[in-house]
Order: sequence, then structure tokens, then C-alpha cells
Amino acid sequence: MKRLAILTAGGDTPALNATLHGAVTRANQLGIEIFGLVDGYSGLLDEQLPHIPLNPLLATIPELDPCRGGTILGSSRTYLDGSDPALVDEVAGRLDKLGIDGLVAVGGDGTLNGMQPLAERLPCVLAPKTIDNDLGLNSPDEPTSWTEPLGDSPPAVGNGDEPLDISRMVNFATPGYATAVFVVVQAIRRIRTTAESHRRIAIVEVMGRQSGYIALGGSYGQPDLVAIPEVPVEFDRFAERVSEVYRQQQHVVVVIGEGIVDETGQGLGATSPSVDPAGNVIFRGAAEALRQRLADTLPATLFRGHATPAAAIFTRKVGHTQRGGRPVLFDRFHAARLGGQAVDLIHQDRPDHVATLQWSSSDGFSVDGIPASQLRDRWGVVRPRLVHHSFFDEENWRISPRGCDYLRAIFTDAVGSGDVEHLRGDLFDTGHLATTYQSVNVRLAQRVRRVTPPETEHPEAESSSQP
Ligand code: F6P
Repeated sequence: MKRLAILTAGGDTPALNATLHGAVTRANQLGIEIFGLVDGYSGLLDEQLPHIPLNPLLATIPELDPCRGGTILGSSRTYLDGSDPALVDEVAGRLDKLGIDGLVAVGGDGTLNGMQPLAERLPCVLAPKTIDNDLGLNSPDEPTSWTEPLGDSPPAVGNGDEPLDISRMVNFATPGYATAVFVVVQAIRRIRTTAESHRRIAIVEVMGRQSGYIALGGSYGQPDLVAIPEVPVEFDRFAERVSEVYRQQQHVVVVIGEGIVDETGQGLGATSPSVDPAGNVIFRGAAEALRQRLADTLPATLFRGHATPAAAIFTRKVGHTQRGGRPVLFDRFHAARLGGQAVDLIHQDRPDHVATLQWSSSDGFSVDGIPASQLRDRWGVVRPRLVHHSFFDEENWRISPRGCDYLRAIFTDAVGSGDVEHLRGDLFDTGHLATTYQSVNVRLAQRVRRVTPPETEHPEAESSSQP
């Protein structure tokens, strides 16, 4: 094996460059060249196949910094349409032209679904990432419990009544999740003191689509109520609990996942669904919808000093801040290991696999690999992993003891002393006032190569990277 390609697809995470760095470091050790494909699957659809040699002469390019958030390769939510064999042939031919022996796709469930048609043409492996922490299984046999195809309604949590044995989880946590929670927890704590001072109800909305892991992780910020997409919000009971807490402490902090649903299964933030290019419903304001319902329901007499209930309730979306910036130690370390593991899986001739992060109480974290088919349901679809019901106390709108066990394994040492030191030294660096932001994209543009450069009669002549 001489040359691999790697791409990053789907929504970015803070740990993508760390994954790329781990993959390139391993490729250097194995004497494999590694080309980064630009802009995820949309780069593959470009007949010029823009790419960046990430380790010329087996030395990692300096722009690839594992501490930098996001991805230097760019990403997109475009996927390869497997039902179009001519297109798949075209893409496979392009990779062949570049002398690519295998592909590492760094992504989540959408990326894995998009990898499938290509995996039939060349060895492909997925290195997982997603802040949503929804790529994996609650137990190895979980796919057999899914009896209905994944439709428009939220996927059911069919995991039996027993508390989850967390050591059996497949892919315990995905790179990006820990940093997202790190941001969310700080947001909740900051919002707390302002809600407390002004006797208000704060509704903090976090990402996570169908999966409530980020909201669950927000429990470290000690919110009064948590609502996750897996548990429909029985509104009357919810409002009753909000007013109870308000009466007690004159303010409330509520954390909700963006994909929460009401008693009928209707998404609070997706009343007129529109979709992104990957077919994902775009969520528009579950927090606002909840605020409206609470404002219409809670009695004005509850809020002394506020003109109306609406004035007493405010919403904050943590938004894309939870997806950006420097990754914390947990993410950097395990993302790099998973990137290296993905290269190893291809090198060991284990195509169509997913690199996974496993956990056991005796040994802590280790990397492994599973066939991609293990994550698919009987209809061939990779489903988002949902928060197991034993992680959540539905009665009290809060994390359960088993959920705490799960979070402790990830977060107890998630932040390193280097992370704290970096904040101290970097945030108010006076150099930041004297200089403008220097985007890595500018330097990387010089490194982009193409298979067939535009306006050249003899394409091969331009690219020195031709095999
Ligand atoms: O899929 C990852 C994710 O972070 C989701 O939690 C969120 O719904 C979505 O991305 C937001 O995506 P966009 O960048 O397209 O707004």
C-alpha cells in the first residue's frame, strides 16, 4: 500500500484536525503517502479532485495542527449517491487516476452511509467524529431490536428495560463530543448567574438532532431541568415542574436538545420542516417554541417584577460555538488514536470497517475496529445512537445514576492542564490586538493539487503528484 486518501465530511467538530494528524502520523510510520481530499464528498464529485498532499516525503505539513479546531480539508454535507452507478464509477476512476489504494472517511452516520457505494470499489474505513456522540451502539445486538425502518418520526429506543451495561457500548464516545460539552457546560454556568440575578427562566438549547447526549453532558452545569429528544416533553408536567422550581428559587435553568418532541412526537423546533443537502431536517428554534408555550401557560402572578411571563423567560442557543475552537485533551488524544487506527485497519486489509473507541472499567479506553455492517439495521441504514433510557430520569427531568457513570468515564480527566494553560496564555495575548487573523486556508490554497487542472491541454504535465 503506497497511497491513501482521507476526507472529512458532515458537520465539523473541534477534533477533526487531531484525527487527520493521527492518521498522517501513522501513515508516516508505515511509509504511506496520504492525500487529503478537499471539502468532503463534494471534492470527490469535482472532476479536478482537489487534494492536498498531507505528508510529502513522509513529513506532516506544518499547517496540520491537532490543537486547531475544525478541519483544514474543509467539509460539506454533500454525499455520493450510491443509486447512480455511473457517478460512482466516475469517482472511483478519479481516485484510481491519483493512485489511491484506499480511503479514510472521517465522519458520522451520514458519512458512513455515503461511504458505502465507494467501499464496493476500494478499501474504505471510517474514523468516527461528531459532536452529537450518536455514531455507535448502546450494545452490540442493538440493531436486531429495530423492527421498523427509520422514517420521518424520531427513532424509538428499543433497548429493553434493563439498565445499560456501559462496557458493552460500541464506540463509547465520538471525538468532538467532549469539547462540545465543555463549551455547553460553561455556557450553562454563565447563564445561571444572570438568570438568578434577574429572577428569570433561561432555556438553553444545544445541538444533537435526535440524540440527547450533548444535553445530557450539560448536566455538569447543574441545570434544573433537562429535556432530551428521546423523551417526549409532556408539557403540563414539564410546566408544573418549572413553576415549582421557580417558586423555590426565583429562577430556573432549563437545558434542551434541539430535536425535542412534544407528546405527539412533533418536533418543537421543526414545525415546518426543511432539509439540508444531506436530508437532515433543519431545526429552527425548539427553545423559542418552548418559551412561547411556557409564556402562554405559566400564571403572571408567578413572576413579580416582570411585566409578562414572556418577559421573564429568555432563550439562548449555544449554537456553532459548541462545534468550534480548540479541542480539549480527551478529544485530541482519542481522535488522533482513531485516525491512526483507521489507517491501520486499511493497512491490515480490513476494508469497510469503522475504527471504534471502547471502554472498560478495568482498562479504560482502547481503540478497536468493527465491520461497518455491524452498525447497519436490516434495511442497511446507519441510525443515530440514542441516549439509553437508563441514562435519564424521566420523572425528574434529569440525568440518572447510570447516566452519571457514563459521563464520569469520559469527563473526569477530559480537560488537561495544557488546556487551562493555553487559555491563560492565549486569550488575551496582546499580539492578537496588533495582528489580524491569519487563516490557514490561505496557506493551504498553495498546497492544493488537481488531477485534471483546468485549461491545460496536457493535464498530467501540471500535477507533480501524478502516480
Ligand atoms: O450533525 C452535527 C450537528 O452539529 C447537529 O447537532 C446540528 O443539528 C447540525 O450539525 C447543525 O448543522 P449546520 O452547521 O448545518 O447548521
